[in-house]
Amino acid sequence: EMLGKCPFGGDRIGGAEGTPPTLSDWYPNRLRVEVLNQNSPHANPLGPDFDYAAAFNALDYEALKQEIKSFLTTSVDWWPSDYGNYGPQMIRMAWHSAGTYRIADGRGGAGQAMQRFAPIESWWDNGNVDKSRRLLWPIKQKYGSALSWADLIVLTGNCALEIMGFPTYGFAGGREDAWEADNSTYWGPEVIHDLRTAEAPDKMVNRDKRWRGRNGDADYDLENPLAATHQALIYVNPEGPYADGDIMGSARDIRVAFTRMAMNDEETVALIAGGHAFGKSHGMVPSTKIGMPPEIAPMEQMGLGWHNPVGAGNAENTMTNGIEGSWTQNPTQWDNSYLENLFKHEWKQTRSPAGALQWTPVDADAPRTPDAHIPGKTHALMMMTTDLALKEDPEYRKVCEKFLNDFDAFTQAFSKAWYKLTHRDMGPRERYLGPEKRVENDLLWQDPIPAADYAIIDAADVAALKKDILALGVSGSDLVFTAFSAAVTHRHSDKRGGANGGRLALSPQKDWEVNRRTVPVIEKLRTVQTKFNEQASGKHVSLADLIVLGGCAALEKAAADAGVPTTVPFTPGRRDTTQELTDLEMFTWLKPVADGFRNYLDADFAKIAAKVAPEELFLDKAQLLNLTAPEWIALTGGLRAMNANHDGADHGIFTDRVGVLTNDFFTVLTSMDFEWKKADPHGHLLTLNDRKTGAKRFTATRADLVFGSNNQLRAVAEVYAGADGHQRFVQAFVKAWDKVMMLDRYDVKA
Ligand code: HEM
Repeated sequence: EMLGKCPFGGDRIGGAEGTPPTLSDWYPNRLRVEVLNQNSPHANPLGPDFDYAAAFNALDYEALKQEIKSFLTTSVDWWPSDYGNYGPQMIRMAWHSAGTYRIADGRGGAGQAMQRFAPIESWWDNGNVDKSRRLLWPIKQKYGSALSWADLIVLTGNCALEIMGFPTYGFAGGREDAWEADNSTYWGPEVIHDLRTAEAPDKMVNRDKRWRGRNGDADYDLENPLAATHQALIYVNPEGPYADGDIMGSARDIRVAFTRMAMNDEETVALIAGGHAFGKSHGMVPSTKIGMPPEIAPMEQMGLGWHNPVGAGNAENTMTNGIEGSWTQNPTQWDNSYLENLFKHEWKQTRSPAGALQWTPVDADAPRTPDAHIPGKTHALMMMTTDLALKEDPEYRKVCEKFLNDFDAFTQAFSKAWYKLTHRDMGPRERYLGPEKRVENDLLWQDPIPAADYAIIDAADVAALKKDILALGVSGSDLVFTAFSAAVTHRHSDKRGGANGGRLALSPQKDWEVNRRTVPVIEKLRTVQTKFNEQASGKHVSLADLIVLGGCAALEKAAADAGVPTTVPFTPGRRDTTQELTDLEMFTWLKPVADGFRNYLDADFAKIAAKVAPEELFLDKAQLLNLTAPEWIALTGGLRAMNANHDGADHGIFTDRVGVLTNDFFTVLTSMDFEWKKADPHGHLLTLNDRKTGAKRFTATRADLVFGSNNQLRAVAEVYAGADGHQRFVQAFVKAWDKVMMLDRYDVKA
């Protein structure tokens, strides 16, 4: 009766806020500028002044761990633990929290407990992980805001490993929860959200959409930035690529997925063999009988999904992935029996009660594994197709054999790989909290920057150094370009990159074409550094600081020249790192394919140009820099005023006073005195002609014109172009500039 009369909904069709068709239904190709508005303070119940680090540091860490550990061995009736131990299912929860990470864009990972929100919480692969989190609620509730879900999930994984006899390498807190689903991450082209509803042929279609080529093709490849080989899975299909039990195909998929997760072969084997030393797979009920995932489950299930109608729907009737059984005879004890079983026995295909393809020992006298709930009952051992891949693939096999013969080496490798897996997206070590954090310089994946063993420059030094830099004869344009190039590699997703460390002057960054303009500038800056550091003051200026300071000095001059004298904030204390502490492969992932800020399109861009427009990658980069739309727009306008184009070309330089911080970019962008014409067949390059005379006046790229053509961006550009807009623009630009220069300064934010 009430439903149809809701004053906010249509009383005929049933529409309400957000009901399709939305803007994106009408205009699927629209630029989704709103991805810059995610995680707004409006969504955060803790408020802007909440200091998570202080709250976390104040809690009794040892007591917390003890509490988690005793919870793990106390079974509750609504979801009884297997073998009287929640440990294995909690390890899987933590692994799935971290395992969404992918190196290409740094998105995914354990950092914000995104596992609580759609789509991840409803992926088939996260079946019953909703139960794991709900089991933990009493502990989360007790510690409240001092313990984020993101930290609790990982810490519980560690506690689980420890109570089962595994020595963990360490744990760092510091992950702050998100408060809404993430709309910026591309999880793949497939729209199905629940594999279980698809028949086998659909699974193939599902897979092929993100893959180029078929098995064996030379250009067989997974779409970037994806790491998971299938939609709705964290990594790979346990039954093999097409759920067909193809062991070598499975090995290839594992290598793709885990490499994209930033893991090498040894780490991959350590993680899979280590993880599957524990627990079991659940496949007692055909998936067609299982209810909807959490996001679309009936309201009375209160956020829990996958209702199982058989028995109590849990314990001996549990249905999760569909495969049934355990890998070892001691599923709650750290030992080497997973690899021993894998290698000692031959395995033949069989099916689980749910119908999934799995493997069982050929020899009848192979050891058996205890039932998880019924005392005295035992079962044959189980392996998944993905487990057999570790034995069959020659490279994985070598690692397995090493671990088989050296259990300590295996333990050490899994311990370190688990620490890496669960901390990979946390960024600089300054973000790590708690008594168990490990911050050794040799953990290369942490992108280490050694601590300073010298005194840092003070305000008087900064003033003197600015003068020295400006006296070098380097243009303001070059200085700004260089500082920006150092900072722009930062990704808020996994907190990697940025100006700190001075890596712009190291390989691979110094060798990238997009950074070519910085090379002579850095050489000049080094002379200032050498001169300063030769003084017997005990003080030292890092190259990383000088690079940023150069940009700030040039901008102060440019603002003054524009008649808007402005102080550009500068916070010293960046340190330089070394080439040895820079993982070439991992930094190569930071190389841009397109960078609208510097009007750059890589040669590789041609490969994807038909699929994605440069401005979409520009928006993506703005999102990775954690910019708001006004910040993005002001920053670009300022960079154009200075000409920070990678090659110094004139595109988007809508001014006769280059190097002066005018708002000319915006006044020209919004003016009807000009008309825009495509200058190449793709419309990547454009010219601006005088509307009356037809004379060519300026050139531009899509990364310039998007701010005038997209109405949401244009609305902001109009503010900066207004008669009262110049000062506002300069202030907004300087603020955004400082934000970008400081994005990676967790050392001073802490
Ligand atoms: C369980 C697949 C890697 C830890 C499972 C299950 C599947 C699976 C299908 C059963 C889920 C269920 O029905 O309950 C895979 C595949 C992997 C992989 C395909 C990669 C190729 C890992 C890694 C870890 C891990 C890297 C941790 C380091 C676990 C644990 C369980 C489990 C502890 C037992 C959960 C329980 O007892 O409830 N895995 N896994 N797995 N996995 Fe993995």
